[in-house]
Amino acid sequence: SSEQASTSTKRNLIVISNRLPLSVKRSEDGSYISSMSSGGLVTSLSGLTKTAEFRWYGWPGMSPKESVEQDEIRRSLAPHNAIPVFLDEELAQKHYNGFSNQILWPILHYQPGVTYDEGKWEAYKKVNEIFADTIAEAAQEEDLIWVHDYHLMLLPELLRERMAKKKRQACIGFSLHTPFPPSESLKVLPVAKDILKGMLSSTLVGFHTEDYRKNFSESCEYLLNARVQDSSILYKDRLVKTGHFTVGIDPDKFNETLKKDDVQARIHDLNERYKDIKVIVGVDRLDYIKGLTQKLHGFEQFLTDYPKWQGKVVLIQVAVPSREDVKEYQELETELSCLVGKINGKFSKPEYSPIIYLHRSIPFTELTALYSIADMCLLTSSRDGMNLVAFEYIACQEQRNGVLALSEFAGASVFMADGTIQFHPANIKEMSQCIHQGLTMSKEERKERYDKLAKFVHTNTSARWGQSFVAELSKRHA
Ligand code: ADP
Ligand code: G6P
Repeated sequence: SSEQASTSTKRNLIVISNRLPLSVKRSEDGSYISSMSSGGLVTSLSGLTKTAEFRWYGWPGMSPKESVEQDEIRRSLAPHNAIPVFLDEELAQKHYNGFSNQILWPILHYQPGVTYDEGKWEAYKKVNEIFADTIAEAAQEEDLIWVHDYHLMLLPELLRERMAKKKRQACIGFSLHTPFPPSESLKVLPVAKDILKGMLSSTLVGFHTEDYRKNFSESCEYLLNARVQDSSILYKDRLVKTGHFTVGIDPDKFNETLKKDDVQARIHDLNERYKDIKVIVGVDRLDYIKGLTQKLHGFEQFLTDYPKWQGKVVLIQVAVPSREDVKEYQELETELSCLVGKINGKFSKPEYSPIIYLHRSIPFTELTALYSIADMCLLTSSRDGMNLVAFEYIACQEQRNGVLALSEFAGASVFMADGTIQFHPANIKEMSQCIHQGLTMSKEERKERYDKLAKFVHTNTSARWGQSFVAELSKRHA
């Protein structure tokens, strides 16, 4: 229970992720500006701050050489209990853009054809070592250490080694926020075994779904000859526990924001603007795993298959800029703006454009208002760890009971099968039919589906996710 969990979190908790809740950038006048980071990892961990206290170590997004400047960044992060781990710019870029986002990210999302690069791997190892040195210095034996995501898969092993040298035991949890592929896909990576060994030095390894957990277990069995016993893995005399922990959001944050006067005013204006028009919303980082090209094709197909909807429905797509130094993301951005132009060119009238495309980050209040006024949310990932946008849309739909149309390849589809309309994101015809089904669904059916989804979102919060992981972790090291 959560009560048990909160008593067990009395031990100090150290959270480590590459991304911190705030990302720091240099503005044009040379000063540092920090902004809220986007992405599911930050959303889930920020939700946890309400019920658990922890120190959060990570890369602040940039690393000035001067110590005065580093201090400035340190000070700006301190109120968030966040502690920066500074990395040399070139090293950080090879670790983040290079190995993590160009090599690991596609493999974890089951994508073939990745080009391995020894230099990027070396940088990845080096950054994991720097994190290990920092944490080994900071952690006490009784601390609970919780490592997050694919940027730091070697950290459990490197940290355990360093703690052992200091004759300290270490209680290390690892949570992956992406899918975990079957061993056949993972094997494409020449250093797959090192990655698995790194993770296996944890005490507890957590995944978003049971399928990802199984893929990991089987990979350890096939590639490392580890012995799998139910949900535990025996490797080199250590028993490692694995589990799936359902991540979520903090729905109260959305409810509170919706009550604000300025948000209500904005909702009123947008409702006026779209009085006679149905709104479909999409919010995604601009990432190829989100299936944005397919989404646009699906919407185009829908306008072609059901021409009476032309002029009566609009797709508002927020594409949050992401990993813009990586070639694949730059190419996708060009492709998307071209496609939006093409579809709008085909269906627009002087008083109407079917797609409103926002290629930028929007304020949280605007995001909330947008979720609230939309009749439908369309999410088309080709592969996605969980997809918290699905949760957020539901959290904002108590009044309207809108429809959630979700790709069957998002982790969330496993838990939200009852309530969502699901489709194969590459099946454009099916997507078109689902859009039609969603827009014409009766009020009663919408309510029935919505109630199930809302119950799930309000039960499986980020706080509950964090508490259950930490409770399980501390149980292993009483
Ligand atoms: P991913 O982790 O792949 O980006 P998710 O759907 O799980 O996908 O999480 C995306 C998160 O990013 C959501 O919580 C969403 O609200 C958040 N987000 C989207 N736009 C912004 C923004 N402009 N600023 C901050 N967070 C954002
Ligand atoms: C996904 C990853 C996170 C990452 C987020 C945003 O959710 O699992 O680790 O933080 O995307 O991506 P970024 O590259 O900006 O950190």
